[in-house]
Amino acid sequence: MTATNLSTNVPRGSYWITTFGCQMNKADSERMAGILEAMGYRAGTDEHSADLVLYNTCTIRDSAEQKVYSYLGRQAQRKRINPNLTLVVAGCVAQQEGESLLRRVPELDLVMGPQHANRLDTLLAQVEQGQQVLATGEQHILEDITTARRDSQVCGWVNVIYGCNERCTYCVVPSVRGQEQSRLPEAIKLEMQGLAARGFKEITLLGQNIDAYGRDLPGITPEGRRAHTLTDLLHHVHDVAGIERIRFATSHPRYFTERLIDACADLPKVCEHFHVPFQSGDDDVLKAMARGYTVDRYRRIVERIRERMPDASISADAIVAFPGESDAQYRRTLALIEEIGFDLVNTAAYSPRPNTPAADWPNQLSEAVKVERLQELNALVERTAQQRSNRYAGRCEQILVESSNPKNSNQVMGRTRTNRLTFFPAQNAHGSPIKPGDLVTVQIEEVRAFSLSGKLA
Ligand code: SAH
Ligand code: SF4
Ligand code: F3S
Repeated sequence: MTATNLSTNVPRGSYWITTFGCQMNKADSERMAGILEAMGYRAGTDEHSADLVLYNTCTIRDSAEQKVYSYLGRQAQRKRINPNLTLVVAGCVAQQEGESLLRRVPELDLVMGPQHANRLDTLLAQVEQGQQVLATGEQHILEDITTARRDSQVCGWVNVIYGCNERCTYCVVPSVRGQEQSRLPEAIKLEMQGLAARGFKEITLLGQNIDAYGRDLPGITPEGRRAHTLTDLLHHVHDVAGIERIRFATSHPRYFTERLIDACADLPKVCEHFHVPFQSGDDDVLKAMARGYTVDRYRRIVERIRERMPDASISADAIVAFPGESDAQYRRTLALIEEIGFDLVNTAAYSPRPNTPAADWPNQLSEAVKVERLQELNALVERTAQQRSNRYAGRCEQILVESSNPKNSNQVMGRTRTNRLTFFPAQNAHGSPIKPGDLVTVQIEEVRAFSLSGKLA
């Protein structure tokens, strides 16, 4: 059987996908769901009765990896009773563990790394022939021809660069996601046009280090610049009709350029929100992390963003208790958060990862220090976020409606251009319902650290 006659849509039972980890994985899951539906699977309603179960896994920290094993244990048991169950592990744990995952959970039918997501149909064809399949080789990522099954009808993710060529000493991503591979601007724009035609309003361009976009593509401009950069890409895709908002993530302070800031300020659809992880507020820790920038450079980026877009929101990631981090160094991270006034910071205590340099260093910190620092950091992050939220009180904000509020069906929810989640009544003054995809103006009445509420203005 070949991949082609697999996609002829013979009924194949139900599937269930659970996704762990970052937006990259969520985007991959949506494409894999699209492939499964093209093969004749239908979306199941229950993880424990589906005919095919796929876990798209994350290994960024040990806790993320361990979660997968507990999920797998339950499915392996089910497979012993029902041998027709197809069990798939995709994503970053699959790539990291490969063969040893098959030994640990012999009930698995397919273990596939993230670079193989678009080949799911071909791999399942091999499974249907009775093989246990391992797909973790370095792979040139194919442009997928299937339509992704998207969770949202309003906001879509579009990959622009896969992989990461950085070597941050704590990070497992380069070893599980492989070398950088940029998609061509035409393919990206085509995908955005397809989404716009289906009613999508907001696109987030994705890459682990999105500022690296284009450096693996050929071409030099007459001025001697790289022909393909994120800035050029933003200009290239900006005119897609129907798309109202464009975001991108994740930015790397080492490669973040003034040209990019200027493009964001000049292009009306590009939202005033920047996710720029700083990881640590101490130069020596940054050096040990091999991040390639100083705290001062980071400050200048934020200053420049705020010069051009005074109301821009800035979010980031930070790690505490990196090997050897002293109390004074840790306090510089706290001080930087206070100084910058972040809208949001994703925080983590350092977790040693396989095949990363820092995991082998002798100066690891104790669990107690990790817990203590993380708690104090989180309290500060919440205080800072609350201060940043306060500025919205009484203001009118443009909100793109995403869905109804799962906790209160009388409300809908959406986001400001600066990415604050906002709740408000699901009907306008004339009693007509507000629908996902509507762009409305909301007067903010209540502000919380990480969300807002208001009424239609
Ligand atoms: N590409 C992005 C981050 C990708 S991973 C960047 O360069 O910033 C997402 C976040 O997980 C990181 O920003 C970091 O804060 C955190 N992280 C990565 N590896 C980690 C580790 N070993 N322990 C704790 N946190 C980690
Ligand atoms: Fe990991 Fe660094 Fe690459 Fe981000 S830039 S994915 S932290 S190696
Ligand atoms: Fe996790 Fe892989 Fe993303 S390790 S954070 S799912 S790139």
